[in-house]
Amino acid sequence: MSEFPANESFFSLNDVRTRFGSKEVLRGVTLEIPKSRTTVILGGSGTGKSVLLKHLNGLLNPDSGSIRVCGQEITSLTERQLVPMRRKIGILFQDGALFDSMSVGENVAFPLREQGLRDRQQIASLVADVLEKVELPGEEVKMPPALSGGMRKRVALARAIVSHPDCLLCDEPTAGLDPVLSQRISRLIRRLTEDHDLTSVVVSHDMDAMRMIADHVIFLQGGTVHYAGDMAGLEQSEDEAIQTFLSSKGGGG
Ligand SMILES: Nc1ncnc2c1ncn2[C@@H]1O[C@H](COP(=O)(O)OP(=O)(O)OP(=O)(O)O)[C@@H](O)[C@H]1O
Ligand SMILES: [Mg+2]
Repeated sequence: MSEFPANESFFSLNDVRTRFGSKEVLRGVTLEIPKSRTTVILGGSGTGKSVLLKHLNGLLNPDSGSIRVCGQEITSLTERQLVPMRRKIGILFQDGALFDSMSVGENVAFPLREQGLRDRQQIASLVADVLEKVELPGEEVKMPPALSGGMRKRVALARAIVSHPDCLLCDEPTAGLDPVLSQRISRLIRRLTEDHDLTSVVVSHDMDAMRMIADHVIFLQGGTVHYAGDMAGLEQSEDEAIQTFLSSKGGGG
């Protein structure tokens, strides 16, 4: 988008194509995701939002096209070469993806240990801080199967931000949360983006929550970017696909 010059992009995708078997999910996705802003990715179910998010940190490689992270092409990198880039990026998966055999505290500490931090006190203090941020203070010893869906989401968010990444990728961070909690989590993402100069990319169906946080919106349809711009522009658009999508949200969550 013209309002965000290309050198200010955290991610730049050019003609990204991905198929699974005979199904072509991404059919030439070209987009820019600006640094230090919140970009929201919208689109119907099955349009490839989660696939797109997994491309951003190299968890999935496209069949063709270019993906640049802070200027560096990542599609040609090996798993080992991807490690430094992945350290800059925290990710909250759609299903939370917690390790059920590890306590909340161990789950949240996982990225810190992976990055080589060994000091137990320092780890405990970073974990306690971040659990407080997601409004789960003192819940370190609980086991994931004992958590509600909303708590799992928040533990997953805590794990995604504990190592102070430059970028946060969130897949449906508010799904399954009640409106009050959903607003709190959205505000937290907003605050982190503003206070820590974070680049966030959020996939969501929750229009109320996304209206609160979006600086930039990308609407996927038919495997390509159908709209990129601000939320007001999307909501004022007379495009049929956009109108159909928005009316399916009923103006609500
Ligand atoms: N690893 C995979 N193997 C085969 N097909 C896959 C794989 N991952 C995704 N797909 C397919 O790609 C398409 C897009 O999936 P994706 O999960 O990205 O959709 P989505 O937009 O995130 O949907 P939702 O809003 O329901 O989460 C779907 O048809 C899905 O079945
Ligand atoms: Mg998804």
